[in-house]
Amino acid sequence: MILLLPVILALLFGTVILVFMFHHLFFLVYKHDTKTLPGGNMGFPFVGEAFGFFTPHKSLSIGNFLQQRCSRYGEVFKSYIFGSPTIISCDLELNKFVLQKEGKLFQSSYPKPIRDILGKHSLMIVTDVERHKKLRRIEVGLINKFSSTLNFLGDIDKLCISLMESWRGNQLILFSKQAKQFSFNLMLMNLLDMQPGEPLGLQLLEDFLTFMKGFVSIPINLPWTPYAKAVKARTRISSTLKQILNEWKNRKDVQVQNRQQKGDPFDEILVKEDLISDVEKVSILLDLLLAGYETTSGLLSLLVYFLAQSPQALQTLKDEHLAIRKKKKEGEPLNWEDYKQMEFTTMVINETLRCGNLVKFVHREAIKDVKFKGYHIPAGWKVLPILSAVHLEPSLHENPSEFNPWRWTDPATSKKVVPFGGGSRLCPGSELGKLEASFFLHYLLLNYRWTMKEEEYPMLYPYMDFPKGLLIALETETTNVN
Ligand code: HEM
Ligand SMILES: *[C@@H]1O[C@H](CO)[C@@H](O)[C@H](O)[C@H]1NC(C)=O
Repeated sequence: MILLLPVILALLFGTVILVFMFHHLFFLVYKHDTKTLPGGNMGFPFVGEAFGFFTPHKSLSIGNFLQQRCSRYGEVFKSYIFGSPTIISCDLELNKFVLQKEGKLFQSSYPKPIRDILGKHSLMIVTDVERHKKLRRIEVGLINKFSSTLNFLGDIDKLCISLMESWRGNQLILFSKQAKQFSFNLMLMNLLDMQPGEPLGLQLLEDFLTFMKGFVSIPINLPWTPYAKAVKARTRISSTLKQILNEWKNRKDVQVQNRQQKGDPFDEILVKEDLISDVEKVSILLDLLLAGYETTSGLLSLLVYFLAQSPQALQTLKDEHLAIRKKKKEGEPLNWEDYKQMEFTTMVINETLRCGNLVKFVHREAIKDVKFKGYHIPAGWKVLPILSAVHLEPSLHENPSEFNPWRWTDPATSKKVVPFGGGSRLCPGSELGKLEASFFLHYLLLNYRWTMKEEEYPMLYPYMDFPKGLLIALETETTNVN
């Protein structure tokens, strides 16, 4: 009996492999005219080329897998990644075309584990064009109202100052963790009107950290895996958010009345709005917390990293912020006019996004047969526009692996860099993220100088992270401002 088991397993496994091979061949030989399909290798049955594609590599490179495929087959090639025939595109024009034709020729198509974890009401997941429009209008409304209220700018200012204070006397900090806490607190304050350190907020942060670990892990839903823990954490996060939403509806205290009188976005959009269900409202909060938290903190870490090795850019940046500070009264918070003057800062942030590649690629699928530039993309195939490949393409950018903010003085550069995607799914938080990063830089530069204490690189897993946590040594800045 025990001897039979391996035989049965082998037979089962063999059958699975055969079925997948057939599936493979079917796609390759029968369904489509392979002559107009781009070249490429479909890899092994079942996993295809998934392992190659998902191998971690430095942010400032496209990784061996893409390097090899692109030099062999060109910038657009076919592949097979976990169960799906896929077109991988490192071509600027095709990427832009795919993003622009969202809802018409292509649609968002995130893999099941990501869909499960974000939930089916998440903006990134919803494919129905009308529903996407409706939810997006609400989310964009929330983000825009936040960033245009004075309260909000004041909150960023205060949080930056208290972070700088908390580092006094510390010589060494693990920056990437600090950045995560900072951007999470910012979202809590703005989205949920919570003060940093509130118990409900700490619980949320803990659940979020668990959630992120699972989000990026191998999606196997067994009880002890990070993925399973993440699914559970998501449930807890949802119920906490629901609880907060209910409290808002029922509370009638002064704080709430103040918010209502001010035309508070949270109140207007999430409490009174009855075009959407409570489940959708919770999903909106989750979307914004998730999207706003990991990306913004990643951007801050990347800024600290790139500036640590670019003394010239750092000095120019410092001059810009000193000039802004000199025009203000002592302790006066930053405002919109100040932000508008941070021109070099914007160039530094743009260049950091190009080199840092926070979002390496997006997930799409063709909903119709598509012909573009002589390529044929069959309906139903996945399409992965690789944003990082365009950012690092030597024919588009001179010395692409060099961090050089001055390349942004050429207006053509911004047409060749797409860190926020495009089309009807263009990131609605791009301005917000840049604003937060600019304010943060202002206070960091005026208060500290820093050096990296360990050699490390930002890595794409494919999400961006610093494997050692970005250990930096701080020194108090002695330039007297006021
Ligand atoms: C700072 C760095 C950020 C980067 C590099 C970034 C990047 C992106 C990219 C590439 C997409 C497109 C995904 C796709 O097409 O499938 C996206 C979508 C999105 N981002 Fe961001 N993001 C950032 C910050 C933020 C912030 C601060 C927020 C919110 C507060 C935010 C909210 C969203 C939302 C809600 C979507 C989904 C939009 C849709 O599908 O219609 N992002 N982001
Ligand atoms: C930064 O990039 C954006 C596009 O992402 C562009 O619109 C803007 O002009 C750029 N700013 C600078 C100062 O280069």
